[in-house]
Amino acid sequence: MRRLRLLSGGESHGPRLTVILEGLPAGLELDREAIDRWLARRQHGFGRGGRQRIENDRVEVTGGLRGGRTLGSPLVLHVANRDWENWAAVMDPWELDPAAATARRVTAPRPGHADLSGGLGTGQTEDLRNVLERASARETAARVAAGAVCAQLLERYGIALRSGVLGIGPHELHHGPPHWDLLGQVDPGSPLVSVDPGREEELVGFIRKVRERGETLGGIVGAAVRGLPPGLGSYVHWDRKLDGRVVQALVSIPSVKAAAIGAGIEASALEGSSVHDPIVPGPSGLERPSNRAGGLEGGVTNGADLIVRAWFKPISTLRRGLPSVDLATGEPRTTDWERSDTVAVASAPVIVEAMLALVLADALLETLGGACMDDVDAAWRAYTGRLAPWWRPESAP
Ligand SMILES: Cc1cc2nc3c(=O)[nH]c(=O)nc-3n(C[C@H](O)[C@H](O)[C@H](O)COP(=O)(O)O)c2cc1C
Repeated sequence: MRRLRLLSGGESHGPRLTVILEGLPAGLELDREAIDRWLARRQHGFGRGGRQRIENDRVEVTGGLRGGRTLGSPLVLHVANRDWENWAAVMDPWELDPAAATARRVTAPRPGHADLSGGLGTGQTEDLRNVLERASARETAARVAAGAVCAQLLERYGIALRSGVLGIGPHELHHGPPHWDLLGQVDPGSPLVSVDPGREEELVGFIRKVRERGETLGGIVGAAVRGLPPGLGSYVHWDRKLDGRVVQALVSIPSVKAAAIGAGIEASALEGSSVHDPIVPGPSGLERPSNRAGGLEGGVTNGADLIVRAWFKPISTLRRGLPSVDLATGEPRTTDWERSDTVAVASAPVIVEAMLALVLADALLETLGGACMDDVDAAWRAYTGRLAPWWRPESAP
């Protein structure tokens, strides 16, 4: 990220996650309950394991905020791990209880996890817990807390996000890229947070059967962002192009193995005139009757809705285990099962939104500059004023 910087620390079963978000202008008013609502969305969803019944994620702020407004200094957030109480002896940072630590030692790396690759890379093959504790998707709670803050910055300028599940395992609930209205059908309280709530009961039954077999599932999440002005990002340098930054942020989510912007996947099989969105004059400026580009052309926002999809692989910890090798003995061994999700896709829409909010808030501040919100507001007025003959927020398709 160019203007913002996000750093988080903390292990899955450590006392807490700590998040430092640097680069926010001074004077941004934050709503604590809205951050907690985002954290609750990450804990919601059918198919998660027992951990979510233990945790009750809430944000605590210890720096960068006074009287509900940012100070311009790093914003320091914490999310407590309630499960830590059950792991204090195993995770103790100083006087590790050898018996407790040995009892929870992991020596058979789980295929699909960072266990083997991370253990080899950092020389921690004796106990892969040293790797998996941090590689765990518990870390996404830190991203969601920071993303919820960034979404509040975007909201100030009328930029809004929507997301939902498009598919679970082999069951597709929507074919092709999603759109704003489709994502408006998502009920955030439904078991699968999908674009087709009417089919969720059937899919919950399907997940139950998969769980009984000790198996796991993945799926597809879609998201849309409305109100982005044209011109964010860059067409100049590869590492500043916003399409690349968006896809990097999405693929960095644990389990995400592919991401697409707009009709990116389907477009490769079509002819040019069926793909490229016409530019036509309209009452509110330039209009795009279609949005197959998904809001980005040449690495720069074009004023249309940003449309993305992220593909999640099945969860890597299987109750029935997977073939592995015990690194302590060199002998073949089936992996152990430790409390784990069957499918986490219903928790993922808010993580996708968080990653988009981070990247887009960064790109917005990069374009507008400003050390305090008054300056950012003035820059927004100047920027959108210059664009007014061509684009107004309500003209986004
Ligand atoms: C919200 C969420 C929850 C997850 N829960 C689990 C889990 O309970 N068990 C598990 O093995 N993997 C889980 N994962 C996936 C792993 O974290 C991920 O596969 C692993 O860290 C390896 O990273 P990679 O899949 O990106 O290569 C979850 C992912 C997400 C996004």
